[in-house]
Amino acid sequence: MEFSDLLINWYWEHKRELPWRETTDPYKIWISEIILQQTRVVQGMEYYHNFLQHFPDVKSLAEAEEEEVLKCWQGLGYYSRARNLHFAAQTIMEKHGGTFPLKHEEVLALKGIGDYTAAAICSFAYGQPYAAVDGNFYRVLARVFEIETPIDSTKGKKDFYALAQELISKEHPALFNQAMMDIGATVCTPTSPNCQECPLQNMCLASAHRRIAELPVKSKKNSSKDRYFYYFLIKGNGQTYLHRREENDIWKGLYELPLVETPAPMSIDEVLAFAQGTKFSDSFSIRKIDHVHASITHILSHQRIHATLIEATADFHPQQNAVYKQIPETEMGDYPVSRLTEILLGDNFS
Ligand code: ADE
Ligand code: SF4
Repeated sequence: MEFSDLLINWYWEHKRELPWRETTDPYKIWISEIILQQTRVVQGMEYYHNFLQHFPDVKSLAEAEEEEVLKCWQGLGYYSRARNLHFAAQTIMEKHGGTFPLKHEEVLALKGIGDYTAAAICSFAYGQPYAAVDGNFYRVLARVFEIETPIDSTKGKKDFYALAQELISKEHPALFNQAMMDIGATVCTPTSPNCQECPLQNMCLASAHRRIAELPVKSKKNSSKDRYFYYFLIKGNGQTYLHRREENDIWKGLYELPLVETPAPMSIDEVLAFAQGTKFSDSFSIRKIDHVHASITHILSHQRIHATLIEATADFHPQQNAVYKQIPETEMGDYPVSRLTEILLGDNFS
């Protein structure tokens, strides 16, 4: 049997039942795919249901306030994905009369939708034969066909895509794509593939040559940058401060506590000296440091954030400018914040 038949036969027996597989609504499939780029299936399901409850269709998403959308995204990270969803929904209202476009090229033109997502939507919703090439495809194809081209090279991307497009079942492209995802997620996993249970074992060159651990090949190591964040939980009269992040680096549009970023780890006195250079003094003056929590390291895709939470008592100045927003402590939970902030605040946040 051929690759795609073996795969699809296996899928009928072993497929995972997932809510976004029960629909051909391109809107719902789109939402599920963007969420699943950020998280695993189990956690993704909660976000999927919650998101659709708030925004059941393109129109409701397009008309929402950005903060509402970010609030539904809270904890998933990479908030530009949520902003792009919002923006693309507005494009669909304006350019496509509110109907999700049918043509692959029009789907691909929407903000935040790349080759993978466009292929997933067009195959799952419309049965169009586009291979949704993701990390699972790279891994399974590299192993079955013993391909050594680095998957993060231009040539690798082109070659793997062409091979996937050649292999995809033209009759059942959706099943083929789903099956590749499931094989990659449950059988041909990165570190301990279960070759005994794999429908592709008879044709798998990496398995025959005992080269599974070497494949797929990557050319670059992830280079990661370190950043040092000191967050101030300011207390006084049951009020505290939040700040809406405007920088384009991470978490744009989300709220966080007043922040001092330093180029290296610092003592608290040094951090306070750094704080002189911020707009803190326009809003409050720190009177006393109450507690310095142990630092935690938060990993993002290209950076490691070393974060320390500092609780401090301060004198509040009258609100003249809006750099730091004074709010009742009990309302902190109403604002969209990053996963890191959520972790740091722990019990202070609900
Ligand atoms: N990961 C990304 N898309 C998926 C899907 N449609 N089903 C299962 N896992 C996925
Ligand atoms: Fe992956 Fe093993 Fe199947 Fe080959 S036989 S595709 S290595 S699980």
